[in-house]
Amino acid sequence: MRTLSDNRPIGVMDSGVGGLTVVKELRQLLPQEEIIYVGDEKNCPYGPRSQEEVKTFVEAILNTLLQQDIKMFIIACNTATAAALPELQEKVDIPIIGMIDNGSVAAVNATKCDHIAVLATEGTVKSGSYVDAIHKLNPHIQVLQVACPQFVTLVETEQTNSSNAQQAIRELLTPVKELGVDTAILGCTHFPIMRSQIQDFLGSKIQLIDAGAASSQKAKAVLIERQQLRDGAPQSLRLFTTGDLQHFGQIAQQWLAEDGMQIAEIQIK
Ligand code: DGL
Repeated sequence: MRTLSDNRPIGVMDSGVGGLTVVKELRQLLPQEEIIYVGDEKNCPYGPRSQEEVKTFVEAILNTLLQQDIKMFIIACNTATAAALPELQEKVDIPIIGMIDNGSVAAVNATKCDHIAVLATEGTVKSGSYVDAIHKLNPHIQVLQVACPQFVTLVETEQTNSSNAQQAIRELLTPVKELGVDTAILGCTHFPIMRSQIQDFLGSKIQLIDAGAASSQKAKAVLIERQQLRDGAPQSLRLFTTGDLQHFGQIAQQWLAEDGMQIAEIQIK
């Protein structure tokens, strides 16, 4: 029997470079897929903005990517997932993958003591989306939410190995270490770039869950289920930023370390 294939690209977006951590996962899981990524650096950070404003940005990016005939849209940003996912899923007929439900499933499966920490932006924390998603899976789990907006700035300004980073980690994550949590969700796609520093501070007894990695697995499962995998040779990446090309390009090169990436500016209307 011939299996079906769908050679259209996958659209991926984030407020900045954070979603490149999801792209990295996707490249490993789905190397043959064509990925078009938009980092909305002009409007980064999303964390302190209202849900309405974030929704407007995400919708505009989705509309731009739909013009490229994408077969799937991945909101590689927890803040944007909290603000826009259900509404956008109503509006379009391609599958849209968010970060929060998938990160929650992975964390609920991992915790042994039913006590999970969620490290995220202030927008995600305020939305309560992780608490809701976790409690839908298991209402007895205790959830400690910690807003870590400083981590986004540290990643965007390439200071993850600085003493400022160490200080921010100590200040923000001491409660996570002391309150008996055994699982912590990296509930912002910028945070895997600081994963080793966070893990070093929390110690090996606390398991880190990368919501982006869990969501990449979900994206693959959805494409398989819909018989929409791409056929043929691995595709090179097409990355776009609404902000400074040099800054974005430098982080993309370092983080993804792939040959043949196309990196350009884009204007979203
Ligand atoms: N990377 C984003 C997230 O996953 C948001 C960072 C920001 O723009 O505040 O939440």
